Amino acid sequence: MSAERARSRPIPRPAGPFVPAGSVRIFDTTLRDGEQAPGAGLTAAEKLEVARQLARLKVDVIEAGFPAASPGDFEAVRRIAQETRGGIAVAALARCKDGDPQRAIDAIKIAERPHLHVFIATSDIHLKHKLRIDRDTALAEAVRWVRYGREQLGRDAEIEFSAEDASRTDLDFLLQIYEAVVEAGASTVNIPDTVGYAIPSEFGDLTRRVVELIGGQATVSVHCHNDLGLATANTMAAIQAGARQVEVTINGLGERAGNASLEEVVMALRTRPTQFPDLGSGVVTEQLTAASRLVSYLTGFAIQPNKAIVGGNAFAHESGIHQDGVIKNPLTYEIMTPQSVGLTGSQLTIGKLSGRRGLQGKLRELGHELEGEALDEIYRQAVALADAKKEVTDADLLALVEQRTSEVPASVSLVGWSVTSSRGGNATGTVSLTVDGEERTAETTGNGPVNALFGAVDAALQPVLGWHPTLTEYELKAVSAGEDAQGQALVRCRRSSDEGPGALVVTGHGLSTNIIEASLDAYVVAVNKLHGAEINGVNVAFVSPRQGEGLR
Ligand code: KIV
Ligand code: ZN
Repeated sequence: MSAERARSRPIPRPAGPFVPAGSVRIFDTTLRDGEQAPGAGLTAAEKLEVARQLARLKVDVIEAGFPAASPGDFEAVRRIAQETRGGIAVAALARCKDGDPQRAIDAIKIAERPHLHVFIATSDIHLKHKLRIDRDTALAEAVRWVRYGREQLGRDAEIEFSAEDASRTDLDFLLQIYEAVVEAGASTVNIPDTVGYAIPSEFGDLTRRVVELIGGQATVSVHCHNDLGLATANTMAAIQAGARQVEVTINGLGERAGNASLEEVVMALRTRPTQFPDLGSGVVTEQLTAASRLVSYLTGFAIQPNKAIVGGNAFAHESGIHQDGVIKNPLTYEIMTPQSVGLTGSQLTIGKLSGRRGLQGKLRELGHELEGEALDEIYRQAVALADAKKEVTDADLLALVEQRTSEVPASVSLVGWSVTSSRGGNATGTVSLTVDGEERTAETTGNGPVNALFGAVDAALQPVLGWHPTLTEYELKAVSAGEDAQGQALVRCRRSSDEGPGALVVTGHGLSTNIIEASLDAYVVAVNKLHGAEINGVNVAFVSPRQGEGLR
């Protein structure tokens, strides 16, 4: 069909507005913008785990990824779209560029509620220096791909358009482009503060202008970055100005200083209803702590203790005056209850004689709904742990559940290891592994037991794989108090053959009461992720912002 005839065809009108009155739609972009945080790459299986937790949290939209960025991310988005039900939409991002929108559509078309998100930069800085196109071309491309998405997905799908760097875009041009994309079939227009430049009063004013112009025909959304620490404040100002979709991430994860944090925005709405009259979100806030822990664990991004809502100290009261007040009445110093964000406070301990049902109930309290084989596995591990240490605490259980979420298909398995180490001397480590079924053993020395054993893994792998893992980060922490505590090891590695800024970096976790075993397990998990990415590129998502040209 000629371009002219295509242009003259009537565009299907969206069946929306899709956001019910009285609601702010929570659009979670942890798996897209959040995953763009350097080093936060997740495997497809890990992305699915996070998506399941987001579904328990009952967000409205899960932005699952950027399918054109890599086959791995396409597959991850497709699997999330296939599995997510219960009225939750699955979004995929696409540039306004030939190929991208179709890839995104292919990944989400099986979703119960597909949500296509196309974007193009609109500020003169981006147009001139990054895209090297003029305003008219940007406008034409925006209209072209919005229209394409509407035609492909039909009336019932959500088609969202984002004007990247909107807060630094000439206002008249911004309003012109929003008007044009709504005419072309967009049902949501998004105002990204891409570089976190705006301040609340000005961002509220900008949002109000957009709401006045197109609020009757499309949902106005905002997407705030935290470069000045104002992402949540800007988001709340925008809601007061009429925005009815907010783009947020768990723990505020995201590019550079991150995005507006989901938990802060949702709890601000819930805690200050008079500031947001007749508005709410459908989020099950009792699932916030579990979501926060899971994302922190899988990405390896620790949560600062003083982080609002989900930081370790968010409900801790240190000074005597505060403690006295809270004991007399928690309202003195707590504006929300710990229970409302999913902190139980109880410390039921599991022993050898504890039942499976008791464990299930305890896990439910901690925000994890487990049954069948998954519950049996955690039960077996908890009972075994009760043999190895005096008591199994909440923290131990959470660590076991989290460890399960990061399992990867293993072509490299640890068969055995031994190490000798003494004060003042080098350590000598021996490791036996199977690599695709073939056994390999190596022995090396190092400046300590972990260094010696990691060296032995490297020596065993190099001749078979042609590379060995290069360790870029190593952390070890005790899961709970006590000398018999489990140690949780985190490693970050890349392939020795993969140098440079775009190199794939993966995380691996290990958990054991023996910290050397935990460290080795973490190292082998990282090896399997790197190997999996190398052989099929499918099981591993790892979308790097460096690969997504022009993407923030
Ligand atoms: O920050 C940004 O501009 C983005 C858009 C792609 C929405 O992430
Ligand atoms: Zn962003």
